[in-house]
Amino acid sequence: MKVSYLECTRCGEHLSADVPQNVCPKDGGVLFVRYDLAALRGKFRREDLRGHVASMWRYAEVLPDAQPVTLGEGFTPMLRSREHANVYIKDEGLNPTGSFKARGMSAAVTMARHYGLKKLAVPSAGNAGGALAAYAAAAGLEAYIFMPQDVPRANRMEAEYADAHVALVNGLISDCARIVSERKEKEGWFDVSTLKEPFRVEGKKTMGYEVAEQLGWKLPDAIIYPTGGGVGMIGMWKAFEEMEQLGWIGSERPKMITVQAAGCAPIVKAWEAGKATSEMWTGAETFAAGLRVPKAYGDYLILDILKKSGGAAVSATDEEIFAATRQWASMEGVFAAPEGAASLVAYQKLRANGFLSAEDTVVLFNTGTGYKYLDLMEAEERKSQHRMPAARNIGGIIGPY
Ligand SMILES: Cc1ncc(COP(=O)(O)O)c(C=O)c1O
Ligand SMILES: [Zn+2]
Repeated sequence: MKVSYLECTRCGEHLSADVPQNVCPKDGGVLFVRYDLAALRGKFRREDLRGHVASMWRYAEVLPDAQPVTLGEGFTPMLRSREHANVYIKDEGLNPTGSFKARGMSAAVTMARHYGLKKLAVPSAGNAGGALAAYAAAAGLEAYIFMPQDVPRANRMEAEYADAHVALVNGLISDCARIVSERKEKEGWFDVSTLKEPFRVEGKKTMGYEVAEQLGWKLPDAIIYPTGGGVGMIGMWKAFEEMEQLGWIGSERPKMITVQAAGCAPIVKAWEAGKATSEMWTGAETFAAGLRVPKAYGDYLILDILKKSGGAAVSATDEEIFAATRQWASMEGVFAAPEGAASLVAYQKLRANGFLSAEDTVVLFNTGTGYKYLDLMEAEERKSQHRMPAARNIGGIIGPY
């Protein structure tokens, strides 16, 4: 529907959505997209979704009113776990470009085209860059992508094949972000960085609508989400508030649980210290590339959600994450991105310490496909003792015939 205005999440200031905006000019706060949901209440009902398109655009009534740039993102499978009763795996690896980043970029590029923007720039840990490249190609726009030089090879290649302008940076996503913000004005780029562009959250929020719809409008007891910049978590929380305003759910909320890599866990550290914001993590290192975010722009929003929902923040070592990718692949048939597999580690830890019980309904987000990480996973295999057990290998290369 038509966007009413953009609202600053820090000072509450309203900004016009008729022109492209980044952050609040007063205090740099993240901007949320607001609609007249009261007018929709009773008119847009849960039953009305029947027959809607099987993509995130099935929720078009609560997305901006513009011609979508779509590759079929969203409405991904909600799989019942074979290993744990009451656990579901939301498999975002089946999205276009193989990760949940497709949702945010579909919405952001839709609005960029709507506004008549031509050149979009993004710092990316990998998947956001790949997704922007694909959606910019589909919209006929130019993409400028800055990624750490050691991103998964798939991310670099998918962006290059889509004809994006790709720069590899000897540094982290925070260094990439600095380059974009220093150069954007001179180059005429619109910055679509995580949380510095209001519509990426709109795309990601559809995960919250899907969780509710796919579980029969009963929210789970907990959601575990691998958190880098935190947009997935922030988007889902926004979706729950909107659904309550639409009269689709009550005031109940799942416990929102962040999982981060032990080698880069600024949100976990802040949560444990009871802080409302995080500090820049130094020496960030993990093969879960999307979790290598040393400082999240929306950290104050993430920490607030953890608190309001009675959630938790947990870290997982690369070794644990790697074992979890094997576990999911062999137990569930899901070949997950390391970031996603970290959700399983968090679940195991929170069951072990009693924070979650076997009766709790829990949704674990697999945020991406493992196919994009073959190079990093092979490197990780070489580092540790996780080689394919020899007994399973029935004879190496057979032939030639
Ligand atoms: C597969 C995957 N999972 C999780 C994340 C973290 O997402 P967010 O920045 O929304 O917290 C990323 C970010 O790059 C990612 O690529
Ligand atoms: Zn503000």
